[in-house]
Amino acid sequence: MNAANPLLPAACRIIGITDETPDVKTFRLQTQGGAKPFAPMPGQLAMISVPGAGEAMFSITAQGEDWIESSIKRVGALTEALHELSEGDAVGVRGPYGNHFPVDALKGKDLLFVGGGIGLAPIRSLIRYALEHREDYGKLDVLYGSRTTADLVFKEDLFGNWPQRMGTHITIDVPEDGWDGHVGFVPAYIEEKGFSPKGRACILCGPPIMIRLSLASLYKMGFEKENIITTLEMRMKCGIGKCGRCNIGSKYVCLDGPVFSMAELDELPPEH
Ligand code: FES
Repeated sequence: MNAANPLLPAACRIIGITDETPDVKTFRLQTQGGAKPFAPMPGQLAMISVPGAGEAMFSITAQGEDWIESSIKRVGALTEALHELSEGDAVGVRGPYGNHFPVDALKGKDLLFVGGGIGLAPIRSLIRYALEHREDYGKLDVLYGSRTTADLVFKEDLFGNWPQRMGTHITIDVPEDGWDGHVGFVPAYIEEKGFSPKGRACILCGPPIMIRLSLASLYKMGFEKENIITTLEMRMKCGIGKCGRCNIGSKYVCLDGPVFSMAELDELPPEH
């Protein structure tokens, strides 16, 4: 973050674009000087701006020596503009914003990552962290679902890298020609796999209906609210607790979140 003015974006460029699904692209970003814009912790956010189109907050899905990556779904004018960009094009990046997944508190635990659709994007930063610090964590499992195979993000991880390194459980909502993997919704698949809550934390992110039903499954299986962690996507503008766009009760998602345990969310007003 620019210490003198946290609202000032770093001039960056796109150094790589991956087509994940028909409406999700992953953008690899670097400063114009060839450096990483900042070093985020897993779960933190970046404000990305497109000249002439505005800016919005996105989760950071991965980082390397000299880049960060964000996976962005085309949902409105700004993301539409982002999807039109090519390698070499300029964007502004400011951050990192928000808290991060509690990587220290999770040490020694088995981790179950549960994602639906683009909800795997923020979780991927923590999966990568856990794999990089493998000796700090117990058994790792990812359970991920999307509507169709075309909607599965991060296919290289899902079918290449991850199955060799952790339990990888993939499902699609409805049967499809050529797919001999699991078919069915994420919440039912969680129960079917029967993950023990003992010594295990669940990190959950996806569409609201998937979250609600997955929570019901996890509670039924005996997971405690303290051991279920989610990350919220709220409309955010300033990223620094000034504009009041992202508050839930007395909490600001941009400062106090986006990562919350279900125990923490329980204390916030029910309308959210
Ligand atoms: S985004 Fe402005 S207060 Fe959180």
